[in-house]
Amino acid sequence: MNEQHLQKYYNIVNQLHDSTHGGFACRHPEKGDFTKLMPAKKHEQAAPEAKPASTRQQNLIEDENALPGVSVFSSLEELINTAKSCDRCRLCHTRKNVVTGMGILTPDVFVVGEGPGANEDEQGLPFVGRGGQYLDKWLDSIGLSRTTNCYIANIVKCRPPQNRDPMKDEIEACVGYLNQQIAFLKPKIIFACGRIAAQTLTGRTSALVALRQKIHSYQDIPLVITYHPAGVLRNPDLRRPVWEDLKFLKNLLEEMPKD
Ligand code: URA
Repeated sequence: MNEQHLQKYYNIVNQLHDSTHGGFACRHPEKGDFTKLMPAKKHEQAAPEAKPASTRQQNLIEDENALPGVSVFSSLEELINTAKSCDRCRLCHTRKNVVTGMGILTPDVFVVGEGPGANEDEQGLPFVGRGGQYLDKWLDSIGLSRTTNCYIANIVKCRPPQNRDPMKDEIEACVGYLNQQIAFLKPKIIFACGRIAAQTLTGRTSALVALRQKIHSYQDIPLVITYHPAGVLRNPDLRRPVWEDLKFLKNLLEEMPKD
């Protein structure tokens, strides 16, 4: 499918959303600005410029993905090593492990959750509890998995005590890690699960129901949204909308140029 066809597809999807939501409910690509929603072709992307360590130390916030007060990482490995000893927010005092992320380093889909729970904190890996097993089933139903074509990470890398929602300042302190992970891995699509991930990545405060079934954009990468697996385990009525969202994700992925 060429770019013209894709533009048509996006237009139809967007028009449908507009007609059901009384206006532009999400940021649509401008006419002629369509390529902004498409990931750059991998072979055309320049490798992130490696700067000498000394310059990096001094060069604060010169990259939009950087953490305020922290220099830009030159590799994912450096990012992970730094995050492992991070003390940028209060969650460092109660965590057992920093849960940076796991999966394929050239992912089709980058799955974003909220933050580690008890099992994840114990093991240092994302989505390994009951919710995680359920998430794996969702992904499997549309041909995705963390071992073949997905990367999984969270908005915050350390467990909030008693699984409370991460606080605004904790998200602000941490989200730069995620931004730079996305910039390194260059996924085709970002898939946000749950209200915290959806609101953080869209910058909106709307209820999740108003954010799903739309193609948003984050770092110029298409972003789609669904409920959180743990929430769906608690409320089986959400299973149908999740299935619709998974099909939405699958269709979008199928429309993307193959590598
Ligand atoms: N819930 C999340 O949002 N992320 C995890 O890693 C585990 C549970």
